[in-house]
Amino acid sequence: MATLAVGVDIGGTGIKGAIVDTASGELTTDRIKKATPEGGKPHDIVAVVVEIMDELGVGADVPVGVCFPAIVRDGRTMSAANVSKKWIGFEAEALFEKELGRQIHFVNDADAAGFAEQQFGAAKGVDGLVIMTTLGTGIGTALINDGVLIVNAELGHIEIDGVDYETKASYAAKERDDLSWKHWAKRLQKYYSHLEAYLSPELFVVGGGISKHHEEFLPLLDLQAKIIPATLRNNAGIIGAAALATGSQK
Ligand code: BGC
Repeated sequence: MATLAVGVDIGGTGIKGAIVDTASGELTTDRIKKATPEGGKPHDIVAVVVEIMDELGVGADVPVGVCFPAIVRDGRTMSAANVSKKWIGFEAEALFEKELGRQIHFVNDADAAGFAEQQFGAAKGVDGLVIMTTLGTGIGTALINDGVLIVNAELGHIEIDGVDYETKASYAAKERDDLSWKHWAKRLQKYYSHLEAYLSPELFVVGGGISKHHEEFLPLLDLQAKIIPATLRNNAGIIGAAALATGSQK
C-alpha cells in the first residue's frame, strides 16, 4: 500500500493541500493554502486545486484525496451550504479527474477530518460512537462508530428554534454576530445537548481552526459525554483525505 498521498481540503474560505505520510499522519511538505475563489463555482475551485497540485508536483503513482464541504455520493456533490449552488447534483469527481488528469478519491470534508482524528488524533482507539464536529464557515460532522466512519452525516444542519443551527453556532456565526466566548458557548451548549439527546455519543471531538482556542469555550459546556479538542486542527481534512485515498477505508 502506498504511504505517501496528497490531501486537498476545499473549504468555504480556503483551499489547502500537502503531501502526507499516511502511515504516521504527518505532513511531509509545507501546506499550500489559497483563497477559495469568490462565488465558489466548480470550474474556479477546480482551477485552484490544479494550481496546488502543480506546486506539489507529485508523480502519477501518488494517490490523491480531495475533500469538499458537501454531501458526496458516487462522486457527485449533493448539497452546497457555503459554496455555489452549482455544485448541487454536480459530477464533481469527474471534473477534478479530467482537469487533474488523474484519479482522485473524493469525500466530504468533515468525514475526512473525522477519519484523520480517529486514525491519528483525538479519537484514536476510542470505542463506541464518536462525533467529530468542525466549527468553521459551517458546522461539519462525522460519525465514527467503533472506528468505522459512517459517511455524510449532516448534523450541522439540525433545526433548533426553527433555524438551521449551523447559522447560529458555527465559528462564522460567532464572528458575524460579534459574540463573546460566553455567548457563543450558550449556543454551542444548545447544539451539543441536542446531538447528545439524539445520539448519546461516548465522545465529541471539536475541530476547525478555532479549536486552538478550546480553553475559552469547551470548559463552559456541560455534557454527559466528554468533549475534547481535535489534535490535528486545520490539517485534519488534508490528512484524512490523503489517508482515505490510500484505501484505508472506502
Ligand atoms: C456542509 C457540510 C460540511 C460542513 C463543513 C456544511 O455546511 O453541509 O457538508 O461538512 O459545512 O464544511
